[in-house]
Amino acid sequence: MSGRMTQDTAAVSHVYPIGSRINEAGRLEVGGCDVVELAREFGTPAYVYAEDDIRTRARAYLDAFRARTEHFEVVYASKAFPCTAVFRLLAEEGISADVASGGELYLALKGGIPAERCYFHGNNKTEAELRYAVEQGIGHIVADSFDELDRLERIAPGQRILLRVTPGIEADTHEKIQTGQVDSKFGFQIDDLPRALERIETLEVRGLHAHIGSQIFDLDPLERIAEVLSSLGDYPLLNLGGGLAIAYTSDQRPPEVDEYVEALLARAPEGVTVLCEPGRSLVGNAGVTLYTVGTVKEVPGVRTYVAVDGGMADNPRPMLYGARYEATLADRFGGSTECRVVGMHCESGDILLPEAVLDDPRPGDVLVMPATGAYGHAMASNYNAVPRPPVIFCSGGDARVVVRRETYEDLARRDV
Ligand code: LLP
Repeated sequence: MSGRMTQDTAAVSHVYPIGSRINEAGRLEVGGCDVVELAREFGTPAYVYAEDDIRTRARAYLDAFRARTEHFEVVYASKAFPCTAVFRLLAEEGISADVASGGELYLALKGGIPAERCYFHGNNKTEAELRYAVEQGIGHIVADSFDELDRLERIAPGQRILLRVTPGIEADTHEKIQTGQVDSKFGFQIDDLPRALERIETLEVRGLHAHIGSQIFDLDPLERIAEVLSSLGDYPLLNLGGGLAIAYTSDQRPPEVDEYVEALLARAPEGVTVLCEPGRSLVGNAGVTLYTVGTVKEVPGVRTYVAVDGGMADNPRPMLYGARYEATLADRFGGSTECRVVGMHCESGDILLPEAVLDDPRPGDVLVMPATGAYGHAMASNYNAVPRPPVIFCSGGDARVVVRRETYEDLARRDV
């Protein structure tokens, strides 16, 4: 359905986690749990995920590949939502991990992803991080620069690597999340690849990698990656990165996972193992953020400000990328109150939704912001010394805390 949910529909839009519905009490249910009850039990703000949503999307990736090839690996881009619970869940489903720091590797291993199924990315991995990864038995390091090749020859002779290349493909997305264009800090320029290969002495080059950007709706540039990479030589592995868009608002219709995988494979040579690295499209729609409305301020003739108990610290995406979201009150869908939903931080720019329409929002209402499952918890800060929200996993009507809320003591824990 389009637009906002209405009281008489039990199903909700595709922006919400799979299986969400409006229950008999007229409240949103995620993973079988009434979100008003969740807010009461766990407090707000809180990141709430439907576990089964993540599993369903992981299986959609695996099934889409399996239907077309035996040679593939689905690698979760853990920067989207790195926490042990999600690694554990994805390990169970048979998904590998893309880690972009020593910390992400640590969490992946803690969550039960085998080291040999981890791919270590980054344009400036430190020597300490590389040593840690090698000690842990990392499967592949995705080498990003000449300097890194030198470092790897020195500290990890014989290591299996992929070479990240900048394929010169521009994706139509926000410039801050474009990475495939020539003017990029990431990877080797195509013309530099022969020189990189000459430089290598002991490292085992298993393949090439490219990631052209994130939140991409158009499959055409994504389809071209395999063509560009396979024109650069014969390798057993081609890692085509991530980037599939998700719906943040009900009017958005990104391609299905199956269509995306079809496009990735369309121009890949027979027999090559194709990897892809979905982040956002595995976890983005699985999560919603619950807030409580605290104040409603009318500026006559101008607008109504609805302030919630979170904001730019738990979701900096609207401020960083101008990202658009939707929101609803947890127990009153639809409505006609035009308002601006703002956070509680000491900045006028702390605006979550510049133009929301809610049903007469009042202090105490629970406000739900869907599609916050990717790059929300991951990019949260303690701005204004606000403790970061908990992560709650819901499934079949049961809710469990997988990351607890920070406390004031946590805030002082590292102070010396
Ligand atoms: N692989 C590599 C090497 C990446 O750098 C990324 C994302 C991915 C895979 C996963 O891309 P996805 O499937 O999630 O689009 N903070 C930004 C997104 C930054 C993405 C960085 N790299 C945001 O909130 O939109």
